Amino acid sequence: MCGIVGYIGTQTATDILIAGLEKLEYRGYDSAGVATVLEGEIHRVRAKGKLYNLREKLERIENPARIGIGHTRWATHGKPEEHNAHPHVDTKMRVAVVQNGIIENYRDLREELKQRGHEFLTETDTEVIPLLIAEFLPKAPTDNYQYPSPFLEAVCKTVQRLKGAFAIAVICADYPDELIVARQQAPLTIGFGQGEFFCASDTPALVSHTRAVLTLENGEMARLTPMGVEVYDFQGHRLKKFPRTLDWNPVLAEKHEFRHFMLKEIYEQPGVVRTCLEAYLNSDWNAQANDKQPIQLGMPDSLYENLEQIQILACGTSWHASLVGKYLLEQLAGIPTVVQYSSEFRYAPPPLTTNTLTIGVTQSGETADTIAALEMERQRRTGLDSAYQPRLLGITNRPESSLAQLVPQVIHTHAGIEIGVAATKTFVTQLIVFYCLALDLAYRRQTLSASRIEEIIVGLRQLPAQIELILESQENYVEELAHQFQETQDFIFLGRGINFPIALEGALKLKEISYIHAEGYPAGEMKHGPIALLDAKVPVVAIAMPGSVYEKVLSNAQEAKARDARLIGVVPINDPEAAQTFDDLLPVPAVEELLSPILSVIPLQLLAYHIAARRGLDVDQPRNLAKSVTVE
Ligand code: G6P
Repeated sequence: MCGIVGYIGTQTATDILIAGLEKLEYRGYDSAGVATVLEGEIHRVRAKGKLYNLREKLERIENPARIGIGHTRWATHGKPEEHNAHPHVDTKMRVAVVQNGIIENYRDLREELKQRGHEFLTETDTEVIPLLIAEFLPKAPTDNYQYPSPFLEAVCKTVQRLKGAFAIAVICADYPDELIVARQQAPLTIGFGQGEFFCASDTPALVSHTRAVLTLENGEMARLTPMGVEVYDFQGHRLKKFPRTLDWNPVLAEKHEFRHFMLKEIYEQPGVVRTCLEAYLNSDWNAQANDKQPIQLGMPDSLYENLEQIQILACGTSWHASLVGKYLLEQLAGIPTVVQYSSEFRYAPPPLTTNTLTIGVTQSGETADTIAALEMERQRRTGLDSAYQPRLLGITNRPESSLAQLVPQVIHTHAGIEIGVAATKTFVTQLIVFYCLALDLAYRRQTLSASRIEEIIVGLRQLPAQIELILESQENYVEELAHQFQETQDFIFLGRGINFPIALEGALKLKEISYIHAEGYPAGEMKHGPIALLDAKVPVVAIAMPGSVYEKVLSNAQEAKARDARLIGVVPINDPEAAQTFDDLLPVPAVEELLSPILSVIPLQLLAYHIAARRGLDVDQPRNLAKSVTVE
């Protein structure tokens, strides 16, 4: 989390920096700041709260500087107050730094710097960086300097002292034509313009200026000058690197007629599900076509050979998608599958088993815990199974991310950029990828007949139109319904089987954007504790889709009703039994149970959205959250 930007060129730096930060605000919005070099001095402006506070301050200042750095913060060390906002500077205000990540050894460095007489003005981990750089800078200009620049050398020596995951951008009043950046396990991309260069934590901040980009790898740094970009490793050795062309449509990152990005993204779901299916379903295949494969994920045979176990690592909404994935992989392909929170897995990894496929699921491809857990598996599993490299697979919406640099195989979810912090369209496309993966494995392992595979594929192809139907028929009704829950304080979500993860996801959506307490439970577990919470003030949302657990969920709902709870049912359209059971109905087309999560999640997204919007909350940027969590 936190977003950093940098600019050096011919335009007014602050304009470019603010525009870039706007595109990165999804990474954090506790405070923001910029620093520029003008007439041999660092000029810094910072503001607590959202970016518009900084923008207002900057509008009152004339600053034609052509070089600068900017930051939007998600607080880790130190409260979200202005004095903790980036950029941070050294005592003499010659060096300014923005950082995304955590400097893990900052306490030691702070002590060391204090002993040398430095005073600290913030509670942040970042402040040690400008102080160290300033110490490494020459006290006076040096003649006949051999290294590309004393500034680069000072930053180089500094990053060698830092431990943790970080990306930094640095400017110095004494070197007004140099912007130095470095990356260690936090994203950083450089953009190449005509006589101007940019850097940013993520590409949306670059695409309106250039499509020529270079994503730094871990342990790399770069020196940006008006003449060009030089890349080095942390030891200062020059590296040969070339920009690539970004395939990107900036129009996708606009809100258009929608009030919030989240609502727009909910409405994009029929389209992105269609795109994802088109990418991976082989349109030439049918149950009679023995010579072709139904799914085209491009996975090498070695990834699947003798597979005995799958472990999936993920966080947040991606973890919920992975639970649905487990159900599919086990029920369709017959492979025992475990799903772990990346943050838990890292510190208590299970004993190693051979012939295991590890799948990392992360829409951003940057979540620090998931990346670190996968890196741990890569190391633990190297050489374990002599026939193979560690079998690692990533599922992500950002195929250019850190995840893609780490794992050899990546499946792209094709959802397009998602701006709303609450994941919606990236979740459903993660599910689509799991359907494709499970079917691919089922086909290759022959755990399903060709006609059954065809039946599921026919069902998958109908989903986009069915999502459209839900959106058309329910938007107004859910908006009205939401009105009645404006003051509600607790919600319970129930689901069973393949829809249990959807209950978890429905509860997460609601709590993260409406700040209403919500819990998801397997419906059968309610009587083992949560039922004690129920009374007329606690609505219960139950997902009751036709299939093996339909009657069971209806019974569980009745148990809640007997405790006066208001019952809301995600149920099949025109189902008389459901109509009798529930107070409010959120009907979805009656598809087979296996496919129902893709439909049952849609009304829950709408419910969460409309409750939060009714409460007048900032739906796209809920408090305390960030879309990409690049710290542990
Ligand atoms: C943050 C976001 C969630 C997301 C989670 C995992 O908490 O707010 O929406 O589900 O990170 O993100 P990832 O990019 O790894 O899927």
